[in-house]
Amino acid sequence: MRLLAPSLLSANFLHLSEDIESVNNNADIFHLDIMDGSFVPNLSYGFPVIEAIAKEAKKPMDTHLMIVNPKKYLKRFADTGTKMLSFHLEAADKAGDNPIDLLDEIRTYGVQAGLVINPDIEVSRLFPYLEHCDYVLIMSVFAGFGGQKFIESTYDRVREVKNEIIRRKLDVKIEVDGGISLSNVDKLHECGAEIFVAGSSYFKADNRELFAKSMRKEF
Ligand code: DX5
Ligand code: ZN
Repeated sequence: MRLLAPSLLSANFLHLSEDIESVNNNADIFHLDIMDGSFVPNLSYGFPVIEAIAKEAKKPMDTHLMIVNPKKYLKRFADTGTKMLSFHLEAADKAGDNPIDLLDEIRTYGVQAGLVINPDIEVSRLFPYLEHCDYVLIMSVFAGFGGQKFIESTYDRVREVKNEIIRRKLDVKIEVDGGISLSNVDKLHECGAEIFVAGSSYFKADNRELFAKSMRKEF
């Protein structure tokens, strides 16, 4: 399975409904990046924008929290109707929260729970939590900005997590995020990734329909 999740961080916010329509027509998932200016230096958008997107989205929303105190906001984000909700392991650690509690809380809202790590965190740090995850998000750039260059070591990291998932016979999907394009999607898929976040490569594509079809390998 190859699912395409355009990141609305790269959308045109002056004409957001056009870009939402484009994702409805061409892709699988709306990837929403929530940045608080503290866990990451950048700020993105919050509830009024998400609620507006939710009204027009015909595909499921996937919310990626890059905030210092994810526990505090899990219910609020679940209430937006997001189908997937992820937070950074580093953020839970810093807040002194057990990631298991947060993942389990997300699931109690009927939302798929995801755990995210930046490129400098050992992938084995995810392993104690895999049973509590519906998906893991392996960052292929440092969280914070769109348009960064893909980090090549991601391939090995995805493979290592996939092997562990297979070894333990778990049903956990792997999502990758940052610098994803046609030049790395095939190899990432071979390594075990199934959900591909694409910000700039999707929204700047000359022909989004064609780009999406190639990313999802529809022909
Ligand atoms: C980065 C965000 C990404 C970003 C991806 O912190 O998590 O979702 O929008 O953008 P591209 O695909 O341009 O790297
Ligand atoms: Zn993201």
